[in-house]
Amino acid sequence: MSTTAVKLRGNRAASFWQSTNGKKIVMAVTGAILFAFVIGHMLGNLQVFDGPERLNAYGHFLHSLGEILWAERIVLLTAVALHITATVQLALRNKKARPVGYSRKEAINSSYASRTMYWSGPIVLAFIIFHLLHLTAAIIDPNAAYIEGDVYHNVVAGFQVWWVSAWYIFAICLLGLHLRHGIWSMFQSVGLNHPRYTPLLKTAAIWIAVIIVLGYISIPISVLLGLVK
Ligand code: HEM
Repeated sequence: MSTTAVKLRGNRAASFWQSTNGKKIVMAVTGAILFAFVIGHMLGNLQVFDGPERLNAYGHFLHSLGEILWAERIVLLTAVALHITATVQLALRNKKARPVGYSRKEAINSSYASRTMYWSGPIVLAFIIFHLLHLTAAIIDPNAAYIEGDVYHNVVAGFQVWWVSAWYIFAICLLGLHLRHGIWSMFQSVGLNHPRYTPLLKTAAIWIAVIIVLGYISIPISVLLGLVK
């Protein structure tokens, strides 16, 4: 490829990123990648109900992927970074365009979930950092019970600490609120926005978010109740 062609492509990518629509597309695509991870991770974790062998085999399988696992981690990290950068830049742009802030009417029109996006996002991010330090790096290990490679034991021992479970449940409920609006935005991004189907799609977004929350929080709740031990 000639240097002029490379320059032209670079300019196109830069003007795409600079545009409001470009940032919205980046938010939608990265949101979809993260959403796919959240679903896959939940299905993987629900194997805790099938017992230690099943969950540990799944954990070993993931680790055996080696370079593929690292590629997935790089994609996730890039998606998180772009999602946050685009969100912050769009919020600053909106604020600049509307220096007096939201009018009461606009606040009423925007849903509760959409208004919580800006604070639920940072709390979910704080949760993910905590979660990685807890179950991946074992730097946070409140009851000094972490055993390298024994995913089932680490999950159960981790959730036996009540405040760890409480923090997970709280953060996952916020993740649900964040996803509810994110899923609805995703529907709109792919053109699923017809007055006839809007109520149906909004309800679908709520149910998908509720299923994800219930799937995840069923794990710490079952550990606290002694159903998984
Ligand atoms: C009850 C809820 C959850 C459980 C039991 C759980 C369990 C785990 C475990 C055991 C690991 C470490 C895997 C390993 O390295 O062997 C892990 C990693 C991870 N979890 Fe979760 N998780 C939960 C919720 C979540 C949520 C809600 C998110 C995101 C919003 C999330 C994001 C991640 C990420 C990004 C990793 C790192 C993946 C990697 O190393 O490739 N987890 N989780």
